[in-house]
This record gives sequence, C-alpha cells and structure tokens, in this order.
Amino acid sequence: MLTKVHSGLDPAPGVWWKPAHKAEKVWVGIAFAWCMVLFAMMPLWHWKGGQNPSGIRRRVDPQKFFARTVEFATQYKIGEDRGIPIVAPPAGAEVYLTGMTYQWYPILQLQAGATYRLHMSSLDFNHGFSLYPMNVNFQVVPGYDYALQVTPTAAGDFRIICNEFCGIGHHTMVGRVIVVDGAGKPLADNAHAVIRDREAK
Ligand code: CUA
Repeated sequence: MLTKVHSGLDPAPGVWWKPAHKAEKVWVGIAFAWCMVLFAMMPLWHWKGGQNPSGIRRRVDPQKFFARTVEFATQYKIGEDRGIPIVAPPAGAEVYLTGMTYQWYPILQLQAGATYRLHMSSLDFNHGFSLYPMNVNFQVVPGYDYALQVTPTAAGDFRIICNEFCGIGHHTMVGRVIVVDGAGKPLADNAHAVIRDREAK
C-alpha cells in the first residue's frame, strides 16, 4: 500500500483560520510594543543622544576640494610620513581631509580638547571614513563637502580605515589622525614607536 505523501499538488491541512493561541497573541503584542519603542527612539536619539552628527553638507567640485586640501596641508605642514604631510592646524581651524584611491590625505595632528571644523570629501569614488579604534563612521562622497564640528577627546595615534569598497587597493587605504594632549607634545610617544615599528618592516 502506498503511503500518502504531501506534495505541492496536495496541500498540507491549514490551521490559519483557527484562533491564534494566547502565547502567539502575547508575542505579537510584545513585538508591536517594541516596534513603537524603536520608532520613538529614532527622533529622540537624534536630539537627546547626541549621536547623529549635525554636519553641513554642500556640493563641491572634487578637484577644487582637493586643491583646497593641498593648500591647507602646505599651510600647516609640520612633517611627513612616507610622503604624506603631517599637518597640525591651530585650534578652531577649518580642517580638510580628502579620500582618494587609495589613501587619506593628509595626516592630521589635532589637539585633544580643541574644536575644529573637519571637511571631508573624495576625489574619485565613494570611500568610508572609519576611525579606528573609536567607533566613528562616515560616508565620504565625491562632489560633497561634509563638514563636521569635531573635538578630539583622547590623545593617541589613530587610523582611518576605508570601510567602503573602492577598488583593488581598498584594503590598503589606511590614514592617520594623531591627537596630542593639551601640553602640545609634538607626537605621542606611542606614535613614534608605531612609526619606527612600521619603518623597520
Ligand atoms: Cu577607499 Cu575603500
């Protein structure tokens, strides 16, 4: 005798017209309430959480933005790391950072506690600004100048990792932000160590 098999032609008996079990209703209620909490959190977090950047975004010609970045880098250059200028703008300055395949230009040296306006843009493709090991992420889009008010809170030698796939050299697109403490030490000791360490390799 043939065993009865459920195939697409022979639908399994349905139960969906029967009233939902109490547990199911409770879970639907919990899920709905949670949706409402998250929905309320979106605007609340923007105003209260201080997490969403309130930057200014305006259109810019990529070439002109890069020319402005080079001008800025020349003005405040204090050194060089493998051909890329290390630039130390004064507190309150307009700071420029350009992403391009496959580098971040220039290397910024900022003071902890000082406030700057950081302009970011790209010369060619979409890049992603990811400040490591801090959890700071921004899209860097060609044609847009994204200006952010920034105040570094901790001294250190940080890395900018490109987190947006931009081409064959994407994984090598690593930049630097050096934050010195208020005493104005030119470079944190660990920064020297990192440079030495990399040059030795
Ligand atoms: Cu730039 Cu990936």
